[in-house]
Amino acid sequence: MRHKVSIIGAGMTGATSAHWLAERELADLVLVDIVEGMPQGKSLDLQEALPVIGKDVSVVGSNDYEATEGSDIIVITAGLPRKPGMSRDDLLAKNAEIVRTAVEETLKHSPEAIYIILTNPLDAMAYLTMKVGDLPRERVIGQAGILDSARMRAFVAMELGVSVENVHCYVLGGHGDSMVPLTRHSNVAGVPLDVILPADRLEAIVERTRKGGGEIVGLLKSGSAFYAPAVAIAQMVEAILKDKNLIVPASVYLQGEYGLKDLFFGVPAQLGRQGLVKVIEYELNESERKALEASAEHVKTNIAKLAL
Ligand SMILES: NC(=O)c1ccc[n+]([C@@H]2O[C@H](COP(=O)([O-])OP(=O)(O)OC[C@H]3O[C@@H](n4cnc5c(N)ncnc54)[C@H](O)[C@@H]3O)[C@@H](O)[C@H]2O)c1
Repeated sequence: MRHKVSIIGAGMTGATSAHWLAERELADLVLVDIVEGMPQGKSLDLQEALPVIGKDVSVVGSNDYEATEGSDIIVITAGLPRKPGMSRDDLLAKNAEIVRTAVEETLKHSPEAIYIILTNPLDAMAYLTMKVGDLPRERVIGQAGILDSARMRAFVAMELGVSVENVHCYVLGGHGDSMVPLTRHSNVAGVPLDVILPADRLEAIVERTRKGGGEIVGLLKSGSAFYAPAVAIAQMVEAILKDKNLIVPASVYLQGEYGLKDLFFGVPAQLGRQGLVKVIEYELNESERKALEASAEHVKTNIAKLAL
């Protein structure tokens, strides 16, 4: 049976997610956007690319939610991205309206779908999705940790001149400047980062990771990162559709794990066909726990602004 994935928001991250997904031949794809003609044009262009790489999926663009009927997964990327000088939090009010509509409309056509959220501020938008849709926590997952960890992995690999495949990093916490790169749990071919890198270089990498999104926003001048966020979406979709039980850092609803409750927060999450299968809990030391608590306070402030 063919799978179906609908992506709401056919902008930079939405269209690029479709691109990575089509390459993996995982599912038929639908792109929905409010801009007339744009999702249709991008979908047709992508459909026309597939003979070259020999992949058979259908890609449909629409301005109408009916096209999403019967989706296994809904990816929400609709909303405003950051401009230079803006924080992710500055997007909250406007994006909350957009995400609310996207959830309400898609649920009418795909009542069993699993939701993957990208729109910022990420943890608050994932929370909004779960509440507006009255969804079980298994079916709402926010993308942040794969991206933040991939940035850190790229920086470590560049610093040491080793393959990215040897570098494993785990960035937890809220998707913002208070994110928590766990250097003790991150490693290069099994050797912890705090052993393999001098303290000052490691601190520089941690800082660059925290500000990784802003670095790209500053360079692009208009819009924010899209290749890396979109491939992170593709990895999550693949983990779910193939029931891989893949453990990735992702934003999920916590019910006491890590001593935290009633918020979406970046933790190692096992993903399978039901969506979230399990939250993995690390042993944390005092400073790691404090950093996560500070990050959680920040996320809670944003969630409170949603006034749900
Ligand atoms: N979580 C992450 O790691 C991460 C990474 C990158 C971007 N983002 C966020 O993802 C969002 C999208 O970023 P982007 O770069 O793709 O922006 P973009 O501006 O390129 O695309 C957003 C699209 O949403 C569409 N849209 C707006 N209102 C809509 C509505 N009501 N219904 C359907 N579509 C609507 C716009 O027309 C636009 O095409 C932003 O909020 C950005 O901050 C998150």
